[in-house]
Amino acid sequence: MHDSTTITAAEALNLASQRLKTAGIEGPRRDTRLLLAAILPGGASALLREPDKALTQSEQQAFEAVVCRREKREPVSRIFGEREFWSLTFKITPDTLDPRADSETLIEGILAWAEDKAQPLRILDLGAGTGCLLLALLSELPNARGLGVDMSRQALAVAEENARNLGLGSRADFACHDWTSGLIGTWDIILSNPPYIAESEIADLAPEVADYDPLQALTGGPDGLRDYRILIPEAAVLLKDSGLLALEVGVGQAEAVEAMLLDAGLGLPWRRCDLSGVERCCFAVKAKK
Ligand SMILES: C[S@@+](CC[C@H](N)C(=O)[O-])C[C@H]1O[C@@H](n2cnc3c(N)ncnc32)[C@H](O)[C@@H]1O
Repeated sequence: MHDSTTITAAEALNLASQRLKTAGIEGPRRDTRLLLAAILPGGASALLREPDKALTQSEQQAFEAVVCRREKREPVSRIFGEREFWSLTFKITPDTLDPRADSETLIEGILAWAEDKAQPLRILDLGAGTGCLLLALLSELPNARGLGVDMSRQALAVAEENARNLGLGSRADFACHDWTSGLIGTWDIILSNPPYIAESEIADLAPEVADYDPLQALTGGPDGLRDYRILIPEAAVLLKDSGLLALEVGVGQAEAVEAMLLDAGLGLPWRRCDLSGVERCCFAVKAKK
């Protein structure tokens, strides 16, 4: 028997799940389980083992606080302050984009191109955010070094912390630049997941995105292609001969971006689809002179 103020884990799960459903959240039960498991000292296994155990007052309060945040459509990853990407854990903050699983397509495409993984490749990541793309690549390419640039100093501080936490700090540098302006050098691989959502589409995004991802990580001007127009010709100049330019693109943008790659003098373009079958990435190579 419990007194009227106590509640079991299973009851808390049911009530919170109903609240998240009412708030319009897809998969409310999954999210509720994640939130409750994070609060219980024994984690998810305690929830499975002892669903009828009463929550303590402090567990109830902590759970109420995170359920309120999720009810306001804050993503679970932002509540936890971290996101798994490429099986690595990345800190995220309000200054960084929450990395998307779709972006792993870019990593897969680059790794498929880089046949010899032991090469001392130089990699440039334009718009590094959390550093997830650059650091995922460095985790797979043991002799590569990389530079991640972003116009947000706050995001760069997060990327630096992620590099240290992942033991990749000695091979990753981060610097504040407006795309490539002021950069000196050449790179074997240049990659970017630039902001690519058309301004008119921002209002239609799910609250999890529109209210929590930084606007400068999302909006790509009136047609979403503004930043490709800037960075493709710039990147083409900074690529080494036979180097690779790898870009994530939004739904329906691959054809236009591929045309820009060709206009910039790059060749052998190809595309790669994400797991939903959307053309998610464009690649092109700089021909040897
Ligand atoms: C879509 S987010 C990608 C972040 C990260 N690479 C990822 O895939 O999760 C785009 C990033 O580009 C940065 N950015 C936007 N405009 C920029 C500019 N003019 N120069 C450099 N970085 C810029 C944003 O701050 C943001 O971190």
